Amino acid sequence: MPAQPAAASSTPKPAYSPGLEGVIAGESAICAIDSEAGLRYRGYDIYDLATQATFPEIVYLLIHGELPNKQQLADLQQQIGKERTLPDQVLQMLRLLAKSTHPMDALRTGVSMLAGWDPELNDHSHDANVRKAIRIISKVGNITCAFQRLTEGKDPIQPRGEFGTAANFLWMLEGKEPEEWRVKVMDTLFVLYAEHDFNASTFAARTTVSTLSDMYAGVTSAIGALRGPLHGGANEEAMKMFVDVGTPDKAEKWIKDRLARKEKIMGFGHRVYKHGDSRSKVLHKVCDDLGKRLGQTHWVKIGEALEATMEKEKGLFSNADLYAAPVFHMLNIPTDLNTPIFACARSAGWCSHIIEQHDHNRIIRPRSLYTGVGPRQYKSLNSR
Ligand code: COA
Repeated sequence: MPAQPAAASSTPKPAYSPGLEGVIAGESAICAIDSEAGLRYRGYDIYDLATQATFPEIVYLLIHGELPNKQQLADLQQQIGKERTLPDQVLQMLRLLAKSTHPMDALRTGVSMLAGWDPELNDHSHDANVRKAIRIISKVGNITCAFQRLTEGKDPIQPRGEFGTAANFLWMLEGKEPEEWRVKVMDTLFVLYAEHDFNASTFAARTTVSTLSDMYAGVTSAIGALRGPLHGGANEEAMKMFVDVGTPDKAEKWIKDRLARKEKIMGFGHRVYKHGDSRSKVLHKVCDDLGKRLGQTHWVKIGEALEATMEKEKGLFSNADLYAAPVFHMLNIPTDLNTPIFACARSAGWCSHIIEQHDHNRIIRPRSLYTGVGPRQYKSLNSR
């Protein structure tokens, strides 16, 4: 006798929100973003942090919940300095990657590979997770710079323990001591990109480790999620737009043509901020100051023309990725490193969220709204 289809479940369906818009998916004490009030890390306004704090202070703040005193900061800097060196095998692996590999994929592979060297990989206690976080945050810049140099046919450079994160990054990329003003701008980028609540990559990290998987798996997932142009990849695409637009007078037509074709304009729009992204305002000023210093004032003018058109045409505002793009460019950073640098900074946020997730874990397991065919009977292979 043929089996009867199962009766439909009488369990009530939870509310559905496409793209999880407006859904509160967990609790966090790390970061608050508000459409009106802007962005705060552990209660501190992003403008104050971006203009006054350094990235290592932010790492400490995100992980421990409070700003460090001088001794705590010195201890952290020392730990970071010691943890930067990569296992030789990871450097060998980077040499083996296809030359066409995107640096985000190299970073993703490198972080995944590092898991095997961490003696505390499967210890998810708070203290072990804090130690792993420092190891990961210390090494991501090294992977990024080493791979970049290898693709340029140069040898990787040994990290300098006495340098802060931004200075060491520029040192490892270029092999010369960076000027103070370049270090300051780079540090500001690191601070601004360090954390942003339950964005797609952070949520990917939290989802991964909510299965009690490890921190390296969480950061690897996050790097994969960040790479896409609707998330971190937007800062790479935004630079292509600036170059393509070329001059401020061409911005309006450039935007209108693409909007007419229903294309997304990179560096604009945000799921949470509907009246502008507070990080964008800081980066606009950095872009303006840098343009004046370097005689490249056209970038900020192109950005302003793009912003004016997007506000008029779509009522949309720029996000952090718009002005970050020409800022990276003026620092002589190759454009395909824009997103990996974002990832290096965001590793601080990801690791903080992973620690928080493991400290109060419940597996993240949402439901889907089934839209497929209804119950039907299986037909044997011969009768199909
Ligand atoms: N360019 C053109 N139109 C955009 C847009 C953009 N950058 N961002 C949003 N819109 C439009 C959408 O097409 C949609 O219009 P419609 O209602 O006429 O269909 C409306 O604004 C709402 O956008 P939606 O895609 O629903 O917003 P979202 O919250 O799902 O997506 C982003 C948010 C960030 C993914 C989206 O704004 C985007 O793709 N931005 C460009 C990529 C980017 O800069 N990402 C970095 C984010 S920090």
